[in-house]
Amino acid sequence: MAAANGNAWEALRATALTCKKCRLAEGRTQVVFGVGNARADLLVVGEAPGREEDLAGEPFVGRSGQLLDRLMFEEVGLTRDRFYIANVVKCRPPQNRNPAPDEIDACRPYLEEQITLINPSVVITLGNFATRLLLDRPEGIRQLRGKVYPFRTGHLVPTYHPAFILRGGGQALAEMRADLVRAKRLMSA
Ligand code: URA
Ligand code: SF4
Repeated sequence: MAAANGNAWEALRATALTCKKCRLAEGRTQVVFGVGNARADLLVVGEAPGREEDLAGEPFVGRSGQLLDRLMFEEVGLTRDRFYIANVVKCRPPQNRNPAPDEIDACRPYLEEQITLINPSVVITLGNFATRLLLDRPEGIRQLRGKVYPFRTGHLVPTYHPAFILRGGGQALAEMRADLVRAKRLMSA
């Protein structure tokens, strides 16, 4: 993100923090805009805040987040201050249900604008919601992962959501590690 875009970033953030464009505004503690370095070359996109994220105001601070931090460090070599993390929807869905299509549509412009301002060369999408939204494809993550896709002026690497790995997959964990190595190679290329 260029320094000249700092004002645009702050304006976007300020708008999002008071947003009431969808029903998720009703149940949230706060909007979870994103965390990390908005000048980074790498953006990670999750699904939606959970209970701990809603309370902390930061994405991926619960168990999924701990796994994400560990894998990003082990496979990409980065701590979360060295890349940016955002979600498809910025407010917690009640009982952690899936975000609904109209909620995703309502929230989408924030993510699109975050991508425009960060202008990352690599985007990693975690799970079905982020991957389907940004690739605009209907297949599931099992079909879409394992490859690199052209995305805007850079590349997109889809992988599993860490919550899926936590539900128990040694094989999926190995595949996620391989996907993260793909992302690292793209960044140093
Ligand atoms: N899962 C997500 O997709 N995003 C978060 O911020 C936390 C858990
Ligand atoms: Fe606004 Fe997105 Fe929150 Fe809905 S989820 S209220 S669109 S910030």
